[in-house]
Order: sequence, then structure tokens, then C-alpha cells
Amino acid sequence: MDKLAINGGTKARETPFPARRPFGDEEVRLVTEAVRSQNLFAWDGHFVRDFERAFADLYGAKFAVGATSGTAAIHLAVGALDPEPGDEIVTAPITDLGSVVPILLQNCIPVFADVDETYNMDPADVEAKITPRTRAIIAVHLFGNACRIDEMREIADRHGLMLIEDASQAHATRYKGRYLGTWGDIGAFSLQQSKHMTTGDGGMSITNDEELHRRMWLFSDKGYLRKGLGPRAYRFLAPCYRMNEETAAVGLPQVARVRGRVERRMELGGLLSDLLGEIPGVRPAPVTPGSEHSYWLYPLGLDDFDSKAFAEALSAEGVPSMAGYIGRPIFMCAEACVAKKTYGGSGFPFESPYTERKIEYTEDMCPNVYRVLRRMTTVGLHENYEAADVRDIARAVEKVARLLPKA
Ligand SMILES: Cc1ncc(COP(=O)(O)O)c(C=O)c1O
Repeated sequence: MDKLAINGGTKARETPFPARRPFGDEEVRLVTEAVRSQNLFAWDGHFVRDFERAFADLYGAKFAVGATSGTAAIHLAVGALDPEPGDEIVTAPITDLGSVVPILLQNCIPVFADVDETYNMDPADVEAKITPRTRAIIAVHLFGNACRIDEMREIADRHGLMLIEDASQAHATRYKGRYLGTWGDIGAFSLQQSKHMTTGDGGMSITNDEELHRRMWLFSDKGYLRKGLGPRAYRFLAPCYRMNEETAAVGLPQVARVRGRVERRMELGGLLSDLLGEIPGVRPAPVTPGSEHSYWLYPLGLDDFDSKAFAEALSAEGVPSMAGYIGRPIFMCAEACVAKKTYGGSGFPFESPYTERKIEYTEDMCPNVYRVLRRMTTVGLHENYEAADVRDIARAVEKVARLLPKA
């Protein structure tokens, strides 16, 4: 009799899934060339400038600025806006903390808009969260699926706000024919190991605006207006997030390949959705109308099951699964928000003469987040999978959905 692996049955998938292989001979060749040049500093080399140019060209943007992480890339964007302490920035409650840290580091207040059924922020709630102190929106495209960024653009324009896109999980992914990251005033990308293109760690921000580019450029380098040797000038307070040559040498050849990777993920993710659509009790990944889905991670909807029990049973079948992604709203995960652990014991910027509205981050702030996360689990897939691997995932899900008691 068919028995769940968690109860001693045979695993649906015995062998490990294929390892991801994001780097090839070209990366080895270029990183070797960078090291052999005896210079790994961007200002004296060409790899970072070449990578920025190629990245900007891929997205049809005028400018790109490299950074040391996705968090840093978003911080470049927030820093470029030069917000006042206590200004509010509206962002997503289901995301990596990297979308939020730059807001606090720039002494602004993160305000969270609730999500819709796609796990992305709901434009109606974004608009509801706008106050006279709102300065910007950081829109996040979760799992590789667009939020309704055209509506965010319209809201931002109507309220005179800047729009930053966090496209860390949605590289080379189109919404209504246009790449994510190009709808905002600035688009920011993480290049961390798990991302569609990666340098292990790294980030990139793109813009068409000359002044925003100039400020991001300075913001990545201590505000340092480099003019060769001689007396120095630093234009404003800024961190040092400079990308180095070996990082760019690894990133550069992937610019030409990232869309191919994304297309392969779309194929595999689409196949998984077709197969899951046949299984009672589970829901395939939602796709925002007009969006491609590049499946950075695959969210599996569960209406009839306890997601933790489902994820454990699925993992035991040989398909690693993570119940509820981050589990709860990002502000409840972060003591910097919920306990205001920011700068010493000050509670700044929450506690400050610049901040008129006192915000407490509470469980019930974005009620849809708990609702949707409680009813989902994630599975991974990537461009090095074969269709047979995806079929195994679907087979394992079908087995668990059939045999696991309903909650
Ligand atoms: C949506 C999102 N934003 C921001 C980040 C932060 O990127 P990094 O870890 O490169 O700083 C990540 C990375 O996990 C992410 O997924």
C-alpha cells in the first residue's frame, strides 16, 4: 500500500535534484584575467564599468551603478532620494529584510502595505498607506512574479512620490511587455547566490535619470567626488558600497545569459503549474495578469492542509519544501522594526522629533499576510532542472495531497 515517506513509505524522489551551475568557463576566464591584471579596484580597471554598461543595456536603461549587495543597491536608491529623517517609505510585508534595512539606515520609517492573492503588495493598500510624510514606494516583485507595477507607477505619480523597484527576485522578467526594474525611477537587483544571475554577493541599480544616477554613484563611494590626486571633496554622508573587479568579471558574462535562464525557468515552472493544476487541494503559483513568472522560488498554495505538515511530508518525499516562506510579515521577523532596535537605545528614527506619527508594528497590521502564508509552501526549481525533475516534484505533491490528512 502507498505510504508517505514520513510514515516509513518509499520516497517519491530518491535522488537529489540537480545542483545549480550558474558559473561557466567564461566566468573563470574573466575572473582569472581580472586577478592576473593585478588590479581589482573598479576605478583602475574596466570590469565594473563594463558590467554596469552591459547591465544597463540589457534593461534599456541609461545608467547602472554596481554595489556590494542587493540591500546596498536598494540603499543607493533610497540614499539618492535624499529623504528627510522621519519620511515614510511604503514597501512590501513579504520580502527579504534587504528591502527594509535601507529605509531605516536612511532614518526613514518603513510602512507596510498588505498583499493580495499573488503574495505581492496590493496597490489599493499602498495608496491607503500614503500620508503627507510618504516620500517613496519600494515595490517588490516576489518569487519572480510582478506586482501591479503599472498601478504603483500611477499612484506614485498622482501623489508625487518616487518609485523604487526591488527586482531582486525577478531579473529579466517582463510585465506588460516591459522588464521589471524599468517601471520605477530606480530599479534595484540583488546578485546574491540564489538570484537568476549572481556574483555570490553583489547588487545593481538602474535608472534613466541623470541626477539620480549621479547621487547613486556618489552614494556608493562615500560621497567621494573623485577628481584624481589632490584635495578631496566628499559631497554628503554616504557608505562605501563599491563593487570590485572580480565580482564584475563573474557578473559580466551572465548578462547575455540571464534571459535564457529565465526562459528555461518559465518553461519548467509553467510545466509544474500545469501538472499541479490537476491535483485536488493544491493551487499552482499565481501569476499577475500581464506578467511573466521567472520562478525564483515556486509558491504552492494549500487550501486543505496544514502547510507545516505538508512541507515536512513533501521534504520527506525528497522534495525540499519551506512552509510559509518567511513565515510572518517581515516587520514581525525584524527586531529593528518590532522592538525598534536601531541605534543604541534611542529607537531612532521611530522615536524622534522628526517623526510625527508613532508606528507600532503589530501582528494584525497586514492581515492578508498571515492568511496567505499560512496556506502556502515553497518548492525550488532552477534552470538546470530537467522536465523529469519537475514531474517528480508534481508526483510527490500529488502523493502528499492524496495521503496527508486534511487539516
Ligand atoms: C526581494 C529581495 N530584496 C532584497 C534582497 C537583499 O539582497 P542581498 O541579500 O543581496 O542584500 C533580497 C535577497 O535575498 C531579496 O530577495
